[in-house]
Amino acid sequence: MKATTKTNFAGITLLNPFILASAPPATNPEIIARSFEQGWGGAIIKTIQYTPRWIKRNVNPRIRAVKDNNQIIGFTNFEIGSPKSLEEWADGIAWLKKNYPEHAVFCSLLHTDVLIEEEWREITRMFDEAGADGFELNLSCSHGQAESGCGAVLGADAEKIKMVTSWVREETNKPVMPKLTALTVDVPGKGLAAKEAGADAIAAINTMSSLPGIDIKTFTPYNTVDGMSAFQGLSGKAIKPVALRCVAQLAGATGLPISATGGAYTWKDAVEFILAGAKSVQVCSAVMQYGYGIIEDFNRGLLKYMEEMGFETIDDFCGNALPNITRQIELSRDYKLYAGVASEKCIGCGRCITSCSDNGYGAMSLQNNKAVNNRNKCDGCGLCAQICPKSCIIMTHR
Ligand SMILES: Cc1cc2nc3c(=O)[nH]c(=O)nc-3n(C[C@H](O)[C@H](O)[C@H](O)COP(=O)(O)O)c2cc1C
Repeated sequence: MKATTKTNFAGITLLNPFILASAPPATNPEIIARSFEQGWGGAIIKTIQYTPRWIKRNVNPRIRAVKDNNQIIGFTNFEIGSPKSLEEWADGIAWLKKNYPEHAVFCSLLHTDVLIEEEWREITRMFDEAGADGFELNLSCSHGQAESGCGAVLGADAEKIKMVTSWVREETNKPVMPKLTALTVDVPGKGLAAKEAGADAIAAINTMSSLPGIDIKTFTPYNTVDGMSAFQGLSGKAIKPVALRCVAQLAGATGLPISATGGAYTWKDAVEFILAGAKSVQVCSAVMQYGYGIIEDFNRGLLKYMEEMGFETIDDFCGNALPNITRQIELSRDYKLYAGVASEKCIGCGRCITSCSDNGYGAMSLQNNKAVNNRNKCDGCGLCAQICPKSCIIMTHR
């Protein structure tokens, strides 16, 4: 049988596991339609709120690139929810489902500064009727809304997760998917709370609260809005390790389908999320940087990987990394390594020597302009192999 990227996510058939995250790439139905034409499997609409009181008042500017060596490693933003009205979105979702019935469209719901049960219930009924395939609950926005007790503040409280999830659960038979935050110590516990309240799936993570930098002359942090700044949500490559950890924890603890979001830029990132237990992968920052066209590489790369690995479906390898994750205390203390140097590749730059000597061991030295390791001093930590610019240090069994 041939490999297929078509998959079932919490009862919804997806043409492929790649979904636009609730964010600028899903700002309105017209651009979502264009993303479907280009091959995206689904979209979570930009978060909507019952009362868009101050939501129409997004600030300028609100998105900033975080760079390392001039390469973008993430974005920070203090964008708030969609300025569109509920009615506009209900019409938009109905239009998308009529014209693109094979593509999944999720709602994304958030409450305003006051948590009102009837608002959650009413908005769920409204979008259920409009034809949304499922409901993502934004219990994870790390900025703006979190400052007024919504988003991540709710997602850090197991009782509130249960409460909100059960309200939505009671109003719809469609999949309910709380989007949880990494900004809490007990991530698995929050997943279990969602499951207990009837969640069909979990999305993780959202942006991480951050401050991207400070102008050292004016003392104003970036982004600067008329001379002032505020804390912002960090997304993109910079948060992928955190997202992978949370996805693995939530998949392991709950057994629910997980929709991963946080730093997926390539098909290979997506495969890693699937191996950590994700059944679908949401993308925002990579689309903000490169546009919808990246879906071609995501789809082609994933299919090729599956064919090469002999996997017919996403389920064949979903969670395959989980059995290889244990508690740190249970990792073997008998597994001993030393740093072996492939001298023919060594350029004698001395970086390994500085790192080793200034971090505790002094095991590396330079002889005839080549790095040499003293095995008696080497503690096998692996730092030198990581910082070597020529990859000529290989951790070797003792
Ligand atoms: C500018 C911007 C706006 C966002 N708005 C929302 C939002 O309205 N609702 C939401 O749940 N997440 C929002 N997010 C978070 C994304 O949906 C996504 O979870 C996060 O960016 C991590 O994925 P990424 O690394 O692919 O960007 C936003 C992210 C960015 C960068």
